This record gives sequence, structure tokens and C-alpha cells, in this order.
Amino acid sequence: MVPKLLKWVEIDSSALSHNIHQFRKLIGENRKLLVMVKANAYGHGMMEVSDIALRAGADWLGVDSLEEGLFLRKKGFNCPILTVGYIPFEGLKEAVTNDLRITVYNLEAVSQLATICRQLNKKALLHVKVETGTFRQGVSGEEVLSFIHKIQEFPELVLEGLSSHFANIEDTTDHSYAQFQLKNFNNIFHELKKNNIKIPIKHISCSASAILFPETYFDMVRAGIGIYGLWPSKETYLSCLLQKRKPLLLKPVLSWKTRIAQIKKVPKASFIGYGCTYKTTRATVLAVLPVGYYDGYSRGLSNSSYVLIRGQRAPIRGRVAMDFIMADITDIPGINLEDEVILIGSDGEEAITADDLALLVETINYEIVSRINPLISRIIV
Ligand SMILES: Cc1ncc(COP(=O)(O)O)c(C=O)c1O
Repeated sequence: MVPKLLKWVEIDSSALSHNIHQFRKLIGENRKLLVMVKANAYGHGMMEVSDIALRAGADWLGVDSLEEGLFLRKKGFNCPILTVGYIPFEGLKEAVTNDLRITVYNLEAVSQLATICRQLNKKALLHVKVETGTFRQGVSGEEVLSFIHKIQEFPELVLEGLSSHFANIEDTTDHSYAQFQLKNFNNIFHELKKNNIKIPIKHISCSASAILFPETYFDMVRAGIGIYGLWPSKETYLSCLLQKRKPLLLKPVLSWKTRIAQIKKVPKASFIGYGCTYKTTRATVLAVLPVGYYDGYSRGLSNSSYVLIRGQRAPIRGRVAMDFIMADITDIPGINLEDEVILIGSDGEEAITADDLALLVETINYEIVSRINPLISRIIV
């Protein structure tokens, strides 16, 4: 039973476990599966997701920041945790103390880590991020050998991993750029091998590459969006069909709900909400819903999205405000105050998905779910 909350996110633990099993089946038992739980587990709730994911067979958790890693440690997660973002110098000591695996791509951080490890009499596990063509973080192919030699000068530093990240694998059905990046990754790794440098864990694969290209698996796959039951993009789905692969059966994990705060009758030709952007074309019944852009319901959805009430679509009228939206329920009889309303999720034949909302505001499903305010309760169902 969901307690009487005003707004909440429901996490379907069986859907999450199902998706993890799908990825496990794909990559096999001998590789590690890292579940990306950064950005509050893409809005799904970092603690809740981490717990379910590990019980369903995830090996590692991936976070962006030191703060996210420390949050997990404080909550008692003692599994391997990889930080993939940037840790400022003054945070490195805490990262090492808390056994966070650290992604490195600056020599300054390497030297500081060596000093810290000596002070703490503790080793640090490092993953060197290499540049293969995304031009976000990473050490260039030409510099990687000397970068690694520098790490090897310090016995306190353990070179555990080599990683990279694809730039456009989700954006297109033409994967020549991803293949180019994969080739660069392979070349770097072979060059290192020639120089007797052994890397225990090589990893480059995200959800889309895990779905489409087994040759990207190496020793570990870092999956995010697919674990949450969302396709990385329609191009990924289409690529799957073009490759004559049976698409994974992914089950959306998140539903987002609220309750009606007021029901009101509005005469024909009334303006609704800030800016008077909607004028009623008939006598209208409105449901006022206590959710707004502060909660992560994009202002771009003004006058364009809908919610589900009693399994029927109720269009949003007027602008999305900071804390409220208004839905037209004229055609849905029998609605009462505090009735449940679905912002994302399904009810009977009807559904409103993160992809639907993403399309309306010209963004991606990743952004829709990861922007749901972390203060909203995540309830496991
Ligand atoms: C470094 C890194 N690895 C893996 C992932 C997971 O990607 P996806 O959610 O597409 O599976 C991300 C997500 O942005 C990432 O930044």
C-alpha cells in the first residue's frame, strides 16, 4: 500500500530485476555488470535502485561524483563503486579512504593520489579513461602510455581499469563512428599490451552498445538507461531490428504519480494559469495537481502533455507553474478530490511514457526521468 503522499515515484522492483537479468543474459556470467546509479539512479532513487540491482546480480555500481559514492558508502553499500566523473583534489583523500574506484585522466590527480596513499598507507584503484573520439574526459592515445608509466612509478597506485565512452551510438543507425571509437580503444589496449601493461578491467560499453555490439563488452559493461527499462533511443531499437536481433524485452521501472488538490468548474472563455496562454472553448472541469517544474515536470510541457486519471487522458491546460499544473477532466466523470493521477506510467490500455514527454519537449528520456526532484519519495512496489 502506498501511503497517502501528495506526489511520489513508484519503483517496480520486479521490472528492475527483470531488466538486469536481460542484460546479464546478453553479456554472460563471466563479465562484470556495472549498473549506473548516478543522477539519483537516473531519477529512480539511488539507494533503492542500488539495493535491488545488487540483489538481482549487478556486480558494480557506477556514480558520477564523490558525493554520490560517499552517499552509497554511508548507506552501507560495500560493493565496488566506480566514480566516472571528476573528483576535486581536496576530495581525493575521502575517495581513497572510502575505497571508491577513481577514474583518472589528469596527471595532477595521479601525483596527488600517490601522496595521499602514502599518507594513508593505503592503495588506490584507478581506471584510466582514454580518449577515443567523444572529447569529453580522457587521455589521448598518444599520451596514454606515458600516463600509465607515471602511475606505475607509484607502488601505491593500482591500475585496475581502462575505459572510454561512445559519442553517438544512441543517435543513429549508422554506427561507423562507434566502430571508429571501438577501433581506437582496441588500438590503445593492444599498444599497452605490447608494452607489457596488463589491464584487468577494460570497459567501454553502455546500454546501446551492450544491446547492439557484443564486441564492445570486454571485461565489464556499464549499463544505465536500459536497466531502467527505457530504450536508449528509437535508433537503437531500429538498429536492433535492422541487425535482425530480437529486441530485449525491457520493462519501464518508474511511475510518477500525484493526487488531485482541487476540482473546479470554469466557464467557457476563461484563461487558465500564468500568462493566460489557454482559453477554454467550453464550460470546463479542471483538476488542479500539486506538481510543477520544481518537481521536474518541464515547463515545456505547458499546453501539450496529458496525465492519466481513471485510465483516461486528461490534457494539461495552461502553463506548467513551479508547483502546479491543471488538467482538463471535463470528459472524465466520477472524479474525486485526492484521486490518484499518473504523470508517467500506465493504467489499463493507456500509458504516458518518459519517451512521450521527451518528444514533447525535444529532449531524451534520460533527462525526463533524471530531473524528477530527488526530494520526492521513491516507493518500491
Ligand atoms: C561514463 C558513462 N558510462 C556509462 C553510462 C551509461 O550509459 P547508458 O545510460 O546509455 O547505458 C553513462 C551514462 O551517461 C556514462 O556517462
